[in-house]
Amino acid sequence: MKTSGFAFLVFTALTGAALVVAAETVSPAVRARQADMKEISAAAKAISEFFSGKRPYQASEFRRNVDVISIRAGEHLVARFATTTSAAGSDAKPEIETDRDKFAELARQMEVYANRLRDSAEEGGAMPQSMRMKASEAIDGGPFAKRKDKAPDVDAYSSEHAFHMMLQTCTSCHAAFRIKRK
Ligand code: HEC
Repeated sequence: MKTSGFAFLVFTALTGAALVVAAETVSPAVRARQADMKEISAAAKAISEFFSGKRPYQASEFRRNVDVISIRAGEHLVARFATTTSAAGSDAKPEIETDRDKFAELARQMEVYANRLRDSAEEGGAMPQSMRMKASEAIDGGPFAKRKDKAPDVDAYSSEHAFHMMLQTCTSCHAAFRIKRK
């Protein structure tokens, strides 16, 4: 009795504030995009586990996880932040409103890399070597790096490189447009 009462207090201390906000003031728009981000995050984790070998590679499952991300990227992601930016219970920065082009570009890049990730998935009981990053890609700045000499060719990207580039869009967008919580 005493133990469970204590556990309840600890639980409330950790989650109480968040629960109150969630129940009373967080708008459906904010909830929907946070739910999207959680799905994106879970799928990205699954994909990273296919690459690390923690999860047995299966092309269909790999693609399914990529699709979870791709359908939430690009225009869909932009629309999620179209009318509500900073709001109660949201970590979105007001800069989304003042730098819409940059936000949209990152959302678009995320989709481009996700599409490449899906297209480069190959059948196989184990992950085919061809999906792995090529030595030359380690020094590639990516298709959106500022380069004048030649147009980037995302279609030539290995799956692994496309995945790394996609994760960079998460980091870039969060750095610019998401409030950091401790
Ligand atoms: C174009 C911008 C953008 C991209 C790209 C992006 N995010 Fe986000 N993400 C945000 C913003 C803004 C928030 C804050 C949303 C809010 O609280 O209203 C967020 C929130 C999150 C959250 C917290 C969700 C919650 O429960 O509050 C997770 C997890 C997350 N993103 C994961 C990812 C991952 C993983 C990727 C890449 C595969 C990614 N994001 C790509 C903008 C982006």
